[in-house]
Amino acid sequence: MKTVTTFSELRLARQQLFEPVGFVPTMGYLHEGHLSLVRIARSDCASVVASIFVNPTQFGPKEDLSSYPRDLQRDLVMLEAAGVNLVWMPEPGAMYPPGYQTWVTVDEITKPLEGGMRPGHFRGVTTVVTKLFNAVQPQKAYFGQKDAQQAAVIRKMTDDLNFPIEIVVCPIVREPDGLAMSSRNVYLNPSERQAALILSQALKTSQAAYIRGERSSSALRGIMEQVISSEPLARVQYASCADAVSLVELDGPITQRTLLSLAVFIGKTRLIDNVVLEPMA
Ligand code: PAJ
Repeated sequence: MKTVTTFSELRLARQQLFEPVGFVPTMGYLHEGHLSLVRIARSDCASVVASIFVNPTQFGPKEDLSSYPRDLQRDLVMLEAAGVNLVWMPEPGAMYPPGYQTWVTVDEITKPLEGGMRPGHFRGVTTVVTKLFNAVQPQKAYFGQKDAQQAAVIRKMTDDLNFPIEIVVCPIVREPDGLAMSSRNVYLNPSERQAALILSQALKTSQAAYIRGERSSSALRGIMEQVISSEPLARVQYASCADAVSLVELDGPITQRTLLSLAVFIGKTRLIDNVVLEPMA
């Protein structure tokens, strides 16, 4: 496995790779969720490139950029074991040199949910992913359903800007007790870790109601809110029942593919999770 930092090293190493190239962008502090993307890329593509870059422009001023967990040595061991060919770890000063002023923005689909709660977040994500795509020039890029809106935004951007890249969205990897894996789970103390199970439980309860025939979007939202209110350490930021493609919030009975999604504070830690409801007869 080769590791590079600068754009010119990356370009040179990229030229040596067998095609097709699969790309897995990350912010590091890797877990099985990230590695699942690498494994799927490995099985699809002749070569796999991963990037590790804690992208400052997608963090709000009150968010956790400075405390975001990092362990580069451990990440590199994990990526090598998973069969990555090339790891790119750009420097923030090279990605955003003084005087940097070019941004990629996607409109409607970035407004609700995460976009509503984290102003500027998706502008940072779409800008950095564009820069990563331009430099790596992969045939395929792999994203997790864990960040459902991010995956939908990247799909829209790739389509709208005609990037010749196939976007592959991979299933959420969970801990055995149901908690969605996240680099931020490390912030949870033992009682918060237990309380964090409320997210997957709320989604499961609402999904079960849907499977039993409940079609009211407000009822499905209400079920999630009610389950979360039973956990004293949890504070819900949003509980959404939205069209799975446009992410527009639904009202009235649901007929289409639907995304149930949650953002919940467990103490000071903000967690997100989601589940897709497939249309049924
Ligand atoms: P990061 O949070 O490191 O996540 C990298 C990728 O791993 C994302 O596509 C994310 O959805 C996926 N992922 C995280 N947890 C997962 C889980 N439990 N199961 C499946 N996939 C999971 O997302 C980012 O970084 C950044 O926004 C990035 C796209 C790299 C741009 O900076």
